[in-house]
Amino acid sequence: MAQQRMHVQAPIERLFAERWSTRAFDAEKPVADELLASCLEAARWAPSCFGEEPWHYIVANRFADKMAWDGVVESLAPKNQLWARHAPILIVSLAEPAFSHNGKPNRWAEYDTGQATICLCLQAAAMGLASHQMGGFDADALKQVFALPDQVHAISVVAMGYPGDMAKLGEEFQPMETDARTRKPLETIVHDGQWGSPWQAPVNAGWEARYQETPVQQLPWFYRDLDADFAQALEQFDITAGDVLDIGCGPGTQAVALAKQGFNVTASDISQTAVTSARQFADTENISIKFHVDDVLDSKLAGPFDLILDRGVFHCFTEPADQQVYLATVRRLLKPQGLLLLKCFHQDETREQGPPGRYGEEDIRHFFADGFELVEMRSTLFASAVQNDPPKALFCMLRKS
Ligand SMILES: Cc1cc2nc3c(=O)[nH]c(=O)nc-3n(C[C@H](O)[C@H](O)[C@H](O)COP(=O)(O)O)c2cc1C
Ligand SMILES: C[S@@+](CC[C@H](N)C(=O)[O-])C[C@H]1O[C@@H](n2cnc3c(N)ncnc32)[C@H](O)[C@@H]1O
Repeated sequence: MAQQRMHVQAPIERLFAERWSTRAFDAEKPVADELLASCLEAARWAPSCFGEEPWHYIVANRFADKMAWDGVVESLAPKNQLWARHAPILIVSLAEPAFSHNGKPNRWAEYDTGQATICLCLQAAAMGLASHQMGGFDADALKQVFALPDQVHAISVVAMGYPGDMAKLGEEFQPMETDARTRKPLETIVHDGQWGSPWQAPVNAGWEARYQETPVQQLPWFYRDLDADFAQALEQFDITAGDVLDIGCGPGTQAVALAKQGFNVTASDISQTAVTSARQFADTENISIKFHVDDVLDSKLAGPFDLILDRGVFHCFTEPADQQVYLATVRRLLKPQGLLLLKCFHQDETREQGPPGRYGEEDIRHFFADGFELVEMRSTLFASAVQNDPPKALFCMLRKS
C-alpha cells in the first residue's frame, strides 16, 4: 500500500499517507470476514454529535451475496461501475437524519457518518486493504434494492478489496493510479486566528517530512562525492586544511567528503532525521564530524570557521528578513577573511520543482554587498545522482571583509 506519490508539509503517521483511493482492485481475492469486521468495528468507534452514532452500513460481498453486490454495482454512476465492479466488497454507508432522543433533525448526521467511514477506510489501509469512497451512485436505486426505510439517507458507497493490477484498468483510469497526489497547501486552508490570514507551518516541519518520507539517496540534491564546484574552488585557491562548517548538510555527503580531505568538519541541519542519516553515513565511512541540529535562522552554533559550505540552503530563503539573518549568521560564524562557498539555483532555472529562491549574479552582488567581498562567481549546474537533467545553478565564493 505504501505510496511515494505525495509530499507532506509536516510529518504524519504512515497510515494517513498510505490510504488512498485506488481504482485497481483484485477481483479474484476475497476479503476475510475477520478483516471486514475490524473495518466496521473501527467505524463503530468514531465520535458523533450527542453520541448519536447515526451511521449504518450495508455490506455487499460478491463472494457471499452476489445479488446484493450486483444491486450496488447497478446503482453506481456508469463511470464508477467501470472500475468498482472489480471490488469484491461494496459497502453502502447510510445516516439516520434525526436525533433519537428528541426526533429533531441531526445536522451532523452526514458529517458523523463520514467520520465513521474514514475510520473504516483507515483501518482497511492498516491491514493492507484498498478502499475507495464514492458519491456517484443513485440513492433511489439503492432505496429500492435494499427496501430502505424512508428516513434513512444513503451517503456513500465504499469499494473495498485487495489492491489489483492497474494494467487491467481502462486506459482513462491509469494516470490516476500513478500521477502525483496533491493537496491544497496548508497555508491556503488554515487561517491564523482570523479568516484570510494564512497559517504558516514551521519551516523545519517541511524538511523533517521530506527526510522522513524519502530515503536520502533518492533526494534530488543527493550527491555522494564532493560537488565539483566546491572541489575546483578548493584546488584553485589551494585550500587544504581548516575548520569547516557544512551548513544545511542534509545527507552529509559533502561534510564527509571534506573530512576525508583532512578538514576539521562541523555539520548542521534543521532536520533531525537528516542529521541522524548524515551521522550514520559518517560512521559507516569511519569519519569523525561534529553534527548539530541547528536552524540557520536561529543558530546556536559558535564557530568560528575558516570556511562555510552552503550547498542549497540560502536559496530556501526568499523573505528579506530571513536573508538578513542568514547573512548575519554566516558573518558571525566566519573567522576574519573566512570564506563562504555558496551554491544556489540560478534565476534561469524555470522548473516548478525546487527551491523558491532563484538568483542571478546581480542578486548575489546585492545580497552580499555589505561585509563580503566577491571572490568568484560562475554559472554551473546542480549535479545530482537522481536527476538526468541537472538544474541550472550559480556558484559563488565570498570572503568576509
Ligand atoms: C464523499 C466522497 C465521494 C467520492 N466520490 C467519488 C466517485 O464517485 N468516484 C470516484 O472515482 N471517486 C470518488 N471519490 C474519491 C475522491 O475523488 C478521492 O478521495 C480524492 O480524489 C482524493 O484522493 P485520495 O482518496 O486518493 O487521497 C469520493 C470521495 C469522497 C470522500
Ligand atoms: C537542498 S538541501 C541540500 C542538502 C545538502 N547541503 C546537500 O548538498 O546534500 C537543503 C538543506 O537545507 C536544510 N535547511 C533548510 N532550511 C534550513 C535552516 N533554516 N537551517 C538549517 N538547515 C536548513 C534542509 O533540511 C536541507 O537538508
